[in-house]
Amino acid sequence: MSASLAAVILAAGKGTRMRSNLHKVLHPIGGKPMLHHLLSSVESLKAGKTVLVLGAGKDQVEASLAAENMAQTIIAEQKEQLGTGHACKMAQDALSTFDGNVIILYGDVPLIPVDVMREMLDTKEQDGAALVTLGFAPEDPAKYGRLVVAQDGTLARIVEYKDASDEERAITLCNSGMMVVGAEHLFRWLDQLKSDNAAGEYYLTDIVDLARGEGLRSSVVVAGEKDVLGVNDRVDLARAEAAFQDRERKKHQLAGVTLIDPSTVFFSADTVVCPDVTIEPHVVIGPGTTIASGARIKAFSHLEGAQIGPDAQIGPYARLRPGTEIAAGVKIGNFVETKKAKLDSGAKVSHLSYIGDAHVGEDANIGAGTITCNYDGFLKYQTNIGAGAFIGSNSALVAPVTIGDGAIVGAGSVITKDVSRDGLATTRAPQRERTGLAATFRSRKAAEKKKKHGG
Ligand code: UD1
Ligand code: CA
Repeated sequence: MSASLAAVILAAGKGTRMRSNLHKVLHPIGGKPMLHHLLSSVESLKAGKTVLVLGAGKDQVEASLAAENMAQTIIAEQKEQLGTGHACKMAQDALSTFDGNVIILYGDVPLIPVDVMREMLDTKEQDGAALVTLGFAPEDPAKYGRLVVAQDGTLARIVEYKDASDEERAITLCNSGMMVVGAEHLFRWLDQLKSDNAAGEYYLTDIVDLARGEGLRSSVVVAGEKDVLGVNDRVDLARAEAAFQDRERKKHQLAGVTLIDPSTVFFSADTVVCPDVTIEPHVVIGPGTTIASGARIKAFSHLEGAQIGPDAQIGPYARLRPGTEIAAGVKIGNFVETKKAKLDSGAKVSHLSYIGDAHVGEDANIGAGTITCNYDGFLKYQTNIGAGAFIGSNSALVAPVTIGDGAIVGAGSVITKDVSRDGLATTRAPQRERTGLAATFRSRKAAEKKKKHGG
C-alpha cells in the first residue's frame, strides 16, 4: 500500500499585485475560487489532512472555507512572511504525528492537474526518492528558481534566480515550487534552513541540498507550463482562466459534447453537460448549470443556476437565471429570461418573455412578450400556469396568480385574478370600428398640410 498523504498549501503571501480587497486565492477561475480548485484536487487524491498556511486576510479565507463546507481544512498562521521554507514550517504542529508523504502546493498555482500530482507521488515511490520537485520549462524562464540536475538525472539542487550564477541562470528547467516530501524528513530539514541568501528568506528549495547531504535522492517530474501557471496579477488571472476554459472545452468535447466554435463557449468549474448536447457559438455558462442529453443551446445564450432537461432547445439569446428548471423538450426562444421558473415538459416560451417565480405546466404555450409581474417593489409572488394553457402575446400576469389547466388568456391582457380550468380570460377594452373613418381622416389631414405648405 502506498504511503498516506497530507497536503500543505502555501498562501500567506500578500498578493499586492492583484490590487484587490479580495484575498488572492479567492479570486475565481471558472466561477470557483482558485483555492477551491486546489482543495478539490487534493480531495480527489484522498489526502488525509490539508493544512493551509495563511497570513493577511486569513479571516476572509476562513469564511470562504466555511461557506463551501471545507472547514475541515486546517489553518496554520504565518504572521511574518519569511519565505517558503518558513511558511511550510507553520504546518508542523498540524502534522506532528503524520508520517506519510506531504505534497506542498501554492495557493496561487491553482490548476495543477491531479494526474501531475499523482505522477509526483508515483515517481517518489518508484525512485525511492526522499523528495520530488515539479519542474517546467517555460517559454520565458524569467526569475524562476532553476533546477540543477546531476549527471545521473537526479536533482542536485535548486538555485533561486537572485542567487544564481550566469551559468545557472542559463538553465531552462525551472522550479514550479510544488514538491512531495516524506514527512519523516521534511520538518527536520526545515529546522536546518538558513536565511543567508540574496533574499534573506528561508527557502523551501534548500531542502534539496540537505537531502543530497544525507545521501538521499531527489527526483524531478516535468509539467507543462499551463499546468503550473502562477497567478500574481490580473493579467495572470486572465491567462489562468483561458487555460482553464481550454481544458474544460476539451474535456466536454471528449465526453461527447459538440461545440461548434469552442473558443467562444465559457464553462464554470461545476458545469455538467451530458453527451449529445450541442452548444452553439458565444454561450456563457455560469455556476450551477446542468444540461441533459440531446439539448441544444443556441448562440448568444447566458445560463446560470439552470437545470436543462433532455432535448430542450434554448435560445438564441436566452437568459436562464438561477432556479430555472427545464424539463424534457421545452423550448425557450430568443430574448426570454427565466428565474426560479419550473417549466414542465413540452412547454414553449418562444419569444421576448420574462418568466420569474413561476411554474409552467406541460405543453403550455406562452405567447411573445408575456411577463410574469412577480415583484411589487417589496416582495416576490408566484405565478402558476396550468398544463396546456395558452397565454396570448403581450400579456401581463400579475402575481400571485394561477391560470388553470387548458385555460386561454387573450393577447394583451393584464391578468390580476385567477383563471379557472379551461376558462378564457381577456381584460382588453372591447374593439370598436368606424367604417371608412381612416380615409376621411387622411383626406382632411392632406388638405390641412397643403394649405400650410402650399403646392
Ligand atoms: C518560489 C520558489 C522558486 C519558484 C517559484 C515559482 C522558493 C524559495 N522559491 O519563488 O524557486 O521558481 O516559487 O513560482 O521557494 N509564501 C508564503 N509565505 C512566505 C513566502 C511565500 O506563504 O513567507 C507563499 C506565497 O503565498 C505563494 C508561494 O508561497 O503562494 C510562493 O511564494 P512566492 O514569493 O511567489 O515564491 P518565490 O519565493 O518568488
Ligand atoms: Ca510567485
